[in-house]
Amino acid sequence: MRGRCAEENHARPRKTRFLSHRLSNYDPGEELTMPSITDQDHLLTDQYRSAANLSARNSLHERFSVNQRGWHPWVFDQIASLPAQSRILELGCGPGWLWVHNRQRIPSGWEITLGDLSPGMIDQARRNLAQEGETRFRFEVIDAQAIPYPDAAFDAVVANHMLYHVPDRPRALAEIRRVLKPGGWLYAATNGRDHMAELWQIVLQVGDAARDANRSELHFGLESGLEQLRPWFAAIERRDYPDALRITEAEPLIAYAASSALWGVQGDEAATERLAGHVRDQLAREGVIHISKNSGLFVARR
Ligand SMILES: C[S@@+](CC[C@H](N)C(=O)[O-])C[C@H]1O[C@@H](n2cnc3c(N)ncnc32)[C@H](O)[C@@H]1O
Repeated sequence: MRGRCAEENHARPRKTRFLSHRLSNYDPGEELTMPSITDQDHLLTDQYRSAANLSARNSLHERFSVNQRGWHPWVFDQIASLPAQSRILELGCGPGWLWVHNRQRIPSGWEITLGDLSPGMIDQARRNLAQEGETRFRFEVIDAQAIPYPDAAFDAVVANHMLYHVPDRPRALAEIRRVLKPGGWLYAATNGRDHMAELWQIVLQVGDAARDANRSELHFGLESGLEQLRPWFAAIERRDYPDALRITEAEPLIAYAASSALWGVQGDEAATERLAGHVRDQLAREGVIHISKNSGLFVARR
């Protein structure tokens, strides 16, 4: 599960100019030199074709986060009070880490459907969770914008760091509401504005990082999520997960930045070299690189 980004990374230089998706706080005529984070074709065929890129990022968080609770145990803490007999849908499940990290805590009466746009992610989730006698999980390629289930099919929906990838979020939120039972719960995790702020400062000096328009937290973030959820849900609560990174090794941070086009060094050898030099110098000088994190989730009731 640890990052093996370098061997599997399908990075390639991007020359195409992509029209960015409209946001209220930037110039709508602005063009991006890299794919938008809501470009579903890019996510499917490149960024999330396999779990490799996500693993590189997860590896940094697992190794250098200061909050010892751990993100996935904390997310599970939020859903742990669901009834012993519950039908749960996870959208954008990735490699299924929420369930892998909490397997011993999952009640036997929970029926969990893991869905993701990417067949590669679904294959990985199935492999990660396969175990003899395990009957709690189902796996399915699902686009959150068209959920192939009838109305009121689930007690809860989990969307962990995925809504900011969905181009038509109102449609996805309408779909989530539709498949939830009355009184059912949505758990939607995301990042806030100063998430990874110090890494942004570094990559903006060394490469061609995405500008604000492409930052996840501006599409669906801790500051902007509530307004987007309000039309669809009766009661919404924000819960924050306090954490930060204290990084003491260069390579995992370099692999992290190389794992996504967002940071502007992917597939660019010269920029990666500049990043590596910057990171190694700072570590030699200070012994540690501190990076702020700002993550949490919304609990919303239908
Ligand atoms: C940042 S990853 C998060 C994975 C997992 N939830 C986790 O936190 O480890 C985002 C995931 O959302 C998936 N995704 C993107 N757009 C989607 C859509 N329209 N419907 C369902 N899944 C989508 C991606 O394939 C990817 O696996």
